[in-house]
Amino acid sequence: KKDILILGIESSCDETAASVVKNGRTVLSNVISSQIELHKLYGGVVPEIASRKHIEKINQVITEALEEANVTLDDLDAIAVTYGPGLVGALLVGVAEAKAISYAKNLPLVGVHHIEGHISANYIEHPDLEPPFACLVVSGGHTHLVVVKDYGKYEILGCTRDDAAGEAFDKVARAIGLGYPGGPKIDKLAKEGNPLAISFPKAKVADAPYDFSFSGLKSAVLNYLNGCKMKNQPIVEADVAASFQKAVVDVLVEHSMWAIDEYGFDKFAIAGGVASNSALRMAMEEACRKKGIKFYHPSPIFCTDNAAMIGVAGYYEYLAGTRSGLDLNAVPNLKL
Ligand code: KG4
Ligand code: ZN
Repeated sequence: KKDILILGIESSCDETAASVVKNGRTVLSNVISSQIELHKLYGGVVPEIASRKHIEKINQVITEALEEANVTLDDLDAIAVTYGPGLVGALLVGVAEAKAISYAKNLPLVGVHHIEGHISANYIEHPDLEPPFACLVVSGGHTHLVVVKDYGKYEILGCTRDDAAGEAFDKVARAIGLGYPGGPKIDKLAKEGNPLAISFPKAKVADAPYDFSFSGLKSAVLNYLNGCKMKNQPIVEADVAASFQKAVVDVLVEHSMWAIDEYGFDKFAIAGGVASNSALRMAMEEACRKKGIKFYHPSPIFCTDNAAMIGVAGYYEYLAGTRSGLDLNAVPNLKL
């Protein structure tokens, strides 16, 4: 049987990425050009700058991905591209590029949902993982508890009502002067702090056990910092980081375990940028072990935005017959 080669393209936020994926599970190349250094100057992603940089980088990133995989456009079976959700101007760069290649080379085009990509990142290093399973997607833009019923078939159990988990990490990091992106920096600093030093609230959403809310927690941290300043009390940043991180992790684990108890999954996965958080991984691992269910997570490089995950998701969509036309458009608020 012939191998199926998919070129994945991702440009929904601040990474320009391309990857060649073989048979949906083997990553032949994974090229990521990050704009983090540029956006750092502004404390967050500036959409206009992101679009411009994507345009400058995308051809080079795709060329590198093909070279690294030792293939040409003629060897490909399809092009998969993120078409939402994300920043519209950023998404459009990847979508336009994918359409151009599809048209020029007469290759099938497959539009991929960014969150489906994040979930699919788990297939790369876990050949045994197959649906059905449950997955917690936690990134800078999303916090979703999802049932993966089958490849390409999802049911959302809950999501955030306000800030995404990664957004809370980034905002708290900024408040304690750690800079952007804050997640990895809080993760590191928290290792030197006491997670029990400060008790921050764990918000629940009434009548929606699987929904999340992180804006109250973020405000509680800001109020705590202001209170210290007013009372001239010293702020131990490492304790703030550790206590805040614990509040986020506790809620994420608690809600996930409720879902496992109610639906009886025997496999649980995490995905998205925050899935590389060391405290979250440890707590989930332990909670799943206690319940006797298998826990999956991607390596950090496949947690944050990348195109390999889009190539993987694109492969399963391709097998299912999903085809996008040359009228494919970016959909900034695309639903799963
Ligand atoms: O998946 P991703 O690259 O982009 C989105 O689709 O949003 O996730 C980026 C987010 C940022 O908010 C970043 O602070 C967070 O993931 N993040 C982390 C860690 N690494 C990245 N948050 C907590 N701990 C980490 N180690
Ligand atoms: Zn993402």
